Amino acid sequence: MLDNQFVYEIPAQFFNMAYLKLLVRQLQFERVQGLAKHHRRVADDPYLLSVQQRVPVLSDLFNIYTLEPGKGLPIHTDANRQCALNIPISGTEQSITSFYSSDSNITSVYNEKLIVNEITSQVVPVFSYTLSVPSLIDNSVPHSVQVYGTAPRVTISWSIQDGVTMTEAKETFIKALGNV
Ligand SMILES: [Fe+2]
Repeated sequence: MLDNQFVYEIPAQFFNMAYLKLLVRQLQFERVQGLAKHHRRVADDPYLLSVQQRVPVLSDLFNIYTLEPGKGLPIHTDANRQCALNIPISGTEQSITSFYSSDSNITSVYNEKLIVNEITSQVVPVFSYTLSVPSLIDNSVPHSVQVYGTAPRVTISWSIQDGVTMTEAKETFIKALGNV
């Protein structure tokens, strides 16, 4: 299992993956009034609420991301969270998430639609991996996603509460995993 400064992989058995896949199938093309296109409410689902009780740093909103083949996300940092729990639903095996080194001179432009800061300065790739099991990801580091397969890449990206660091979130997961 990957465990470094960018990614902390969590055993899939910690989650009811079959349930999560069904849930995404139901909610993928629905929108919640008053929320961004990709946002969904944890409070609307009893199972997600039970996960949030076990891992109290998980926020009240989660995202469903569908990235079409050949597309991806540009190099960015997330605007309103330091880290997130990314859960593979389908098509992730043919995608790559890359992380980049940043220095203090990093510049970015806010993208309101995606709620990310798109990086406009030069950065250097330092680590890449393929999402295959639920993973805690550091979104405060510049990162990008590329989809090179033929199927859309569908994920749940469940935000960790704003202000909670990768280290703090990881500790909370380790505690919760110890109680399984
Ligand atoms: Fe991101």
